[in-house]
Amino acid sequence: MRDNVSTQSGDQPATLPVRRDPGCPFAPPPELERHRATEPLTRLAFPDGHVGWLVTGYELARTILSDPRFTVRPDLRHPALPRANVRPGGVTGPPAPGWFANMDPPEHTRYRRLLTGQFTVRRMRLLEPRIAEIIHERLDAMATAGPPADLVQAFALPVPSLVICELLGVPYADHAFFEEQTVTIVDMDSTEAQAMTALENLAGYLRDLVARKRAEPADDLLSGLIGDLDDEELTNIALVLLVAGHETTANMLALGTFALLRHPRQLAALRADDSLTGTAVEELMRYLTIIHLGGPGRAALRDVEVGGRLIREGETVILGLPAINRDPERFADPGVLRLDRVDAGHHLAFGHGVHQCLGQQLARIELRIGYRALLERFPALRLAVPPEEVPLRESALVYGVWRLPVTW
Ligand code: HEM
Repeated sequence: MRDNVSTQSGDQPATLPVRRDPGCPFAPPPELERHRATEPLTRLAFPDGHVGWLVTGYELARTILSDPRFTVRPDLRHPALPRANVRPGGVTGPPAPGWFANMDPPEHTRYRRLLTGQFTVRRMRLLEPRIAEIIHERLDAMATAGPPADLVQAFALPVPSLVICELLGVPYADHAFFEEQTVTIVDMDSTEAQAMTALENLAGYLRDLVARKRAEPADDLLSGLIGDLDDEELTNIALVLLVAGHETTANMLALGTFALLRHPRQLAALRADDSLTGTAVEELMRYLTIIHLGGPGRAALRDVEVGGRLIREGETVILGLPAINRDPERFADPGVLRLDRVDAGHHLAFGHGVHQCLGQQLARIELRIGYRALLERFPALRLAVPPEEVPLRESALVYGVWRLPVTW
């Protein structure tokens, strides 16, 4: 070890969990911002007692996320957060076949290549009109039911679930079943038993769907993968896409709307200028960074020197993305929501490196069409409760709002 490389911090390790800024529901936890200012790679005591590392600096995050000496595999590391790696039965073993988000290269590379071949510009273009239709249908239903509405239940949760149906080639007749199960899994009002039953129903459904696609391939993602993968792999891939793409997009739709309603001047600018939508989506992704903690977690496969510190083999590293995306060394006035920010797209809210979000183009399409259609359909959209009464998903792995009561 070189003299200037240390594994020790002068202070007590930072601790989890952390809460977002009590003064602003969109700002990162103040502790994370403090660490970034003083020690962007710092010791962190995890809830189970083991001590690892917390990254809050933008450049450090990119370095670590693109370094193959760090593993993503839950079975090779301590749990970053207790709930983050829980699997059915509580067993932590090697990733199940097809569960590529938890694999390292070269295992990961094989699946990722096959999937990238399916998430093509062509397929996304084909999906776009259906996504618009799904969004408009939901907004029509919300308008018909009349104000007030909970935007989470009426719009934000169902839209991504229905879009994944389209992506996987779930027949239209089964949409309602599919949506009901996925929403039960993430709805805070479901009991654990209800959520588990819904998950099993969905896994069973996806297994049958894969068998049907094998018998009768169509022009959809699962059919496109059939020649290369077996049924278990395909079923698990479908589940990964659902898990990764549902709550994330739903929370961006709802929390993004909440943020827009709390920034009336920015909202007026967005309403007035269609061409702002693309950068607005990037800026909302950066400003809100909903994967707050427990998202990208890694462990060192051997001793690694980064930023003048020595991360020892086996130690856990967790990324504080909300602080990373507000690093003043990367973004000017990072605490300000500026929907025309030209470099907003450099945020790391979709991660970085080989595991960078596979569904990011799809998420962008959903968010662009979703915000635009919502604002056009409801020109007088506003909160139906004082902003302090909107319940925040403080302790959830994906940040957002549990409910967003709106009226118009
Ligand atoms: C990976 C965020 C939407 C599928 C990731 C990662 C982040 C992320 C931060 C990297 C995790 C890591 O490095 O450990 C988001 C956000 C979304 C979103 C904020 C919505 C706004 C979607 C959608 C899909 C999707 C719509 C699919 C339909 C995936 C998959 C991975 C992933 C499969 C794992 C990729 C891999 O390991 O190679 N996402 N995501 N995501 N995302 Fe997304």
